[in-house]
Amino acid sequence: MTIPSTAASAATPVSTDPGGSTVPGLRLSGISKVLGGRTIVDDLNLDIAPGEMVSLLGPSGCGKTTTLRLIAGFLLPDQGRVEVDGAEITSLGPERRPSAMVFQNYALWPHMTITKNVAFPLKVARVPRAQIKERVAEVLELVGLSHHADSRPAHISGGEQQRAALARALVQRPKLLLLDEPLSNLDAKLRVRVREEIRDIQQRMGITTVLVTHDQEEALSISDRVAVMSEGKIEQVSTPAELYRAPATEFVAGFIGSSNKVRALDLGEGEPGVEWVVRPEDVRVDPEGMPGVVTRVLPHGHYSEVAIEVRGTDLRAFVTGEAPAPGDEVGVRITRALRYRNGTLDEAPVTVSA
Ligand SMILES: Nc1ncnc2c1ncn2[C@@H]1O[C@H](COP(=O)(O)OP(=O)(O)OP(=O)(O)O)[C@@H](O)[C@H]1O
Ligand SMILES: [Mg+2]
Repeated sequence: MTIPSTAASAATPVSTDPGGSTVPGLRLSGISKVLGGRTIVDDLNLDIAPGEMVSLLGPSGCGKTTTLRLIAGFLLPDQGRVEVDGAEITSLGPERRPSAMVFQNYALWPHMTITKNVAFPLKVARVPRAQIKERVAEVLELVGLSHHADSRPAHISGGEQQRAALARALVQRPKLLLLDEPLSNLDAKLRVRVREEIRDIQQRMGITTVLVTHDQEEALSISDRVAVMSEGKIEQVSTPAELYRAPATEFVAGFIGSSNKVRALDLGEGEPGVEWVVRPEDVRVDPEGMPGVVTRVLPHGHYSEVAIEVRGTDLRAFVTGEAPAPGDEVGVRITRALRYRNGTLDEAPVTVSA
């Protein structure tokens, strides 16, 4: 059975604008940037709907921060256009853009209180003092930091500093919120809590947001869509579910989740140049299946990762319930596979019964 694929063409978001307008909240058209003689961002196109949150996800050095800096105006592109809510801002400096950025290291002033830190961009913009006071109080309330209004950054926790940095961005009432690895300094538990807070605030304010991360779980859990980047290009932009179900390229298939690359097994078509990608959860231990031998078992709590050698190919399976033991002879059935030719999903995810 074949399922039609939509993955390769998922670059255009549906506008969430109540008027039904198709003006994107952010549009990058053909953006390129050369740094140190290398093309770091390569003819990149991306549309983000108003109020949408999109993550840029990719390995270290693929150009995520550079792309964010091009959006924020800290860098100007060699080619291409940047538009926010339909207005072109390609060559404007950061202070004239309707965007606010939260940096990885928070960049709070150590000698200023949280209130002064958050008020700073409004002071620079010469907002009247009474208004500053009101807006700062409002935004500190929003991020849950009112009780630390008079504290200095060194005297509050990492998670609170992160929220202060977020408050300093939100107080500017930006049309576009840019977050560069905002959670990477937090421990695992706090990271999960703060990312949910960020998502909640982003949705309540309906603010168009770009989040840069190399943490796929983070990207998949809080984004409307995820743009997977590799070497300065976007490989695929899709909803988290679609990205996992139908990765458009072999790079995305290998980068998102875990997968088996299968060349040697004949999964229905013995053609050369075709690579099959099989998710571990689509490998079933089934007495009726192909004969295999368990080589390794890694318990993960509620499931086990089981390595099984089948006709000379090593397959990984996720087994819930009782796991087999190394050396056991088992049957293996593959219930679903993706087929790639020349690195690209060549037709559709294929359901197999090998
Ligand atoms: N000003 C610069 N001059 C020369 N090369 C640069 C400059 N800025 C960035 N680069 C290079 O561009 C590439 C992409 O950098 P970038 O910071 O955008 O990556 P990233 O995807 O954010 O990575 P990470 O996940 O590690 O933060 C890197 O190889 C980096 O060394
Ligand atoms: Mg970076």
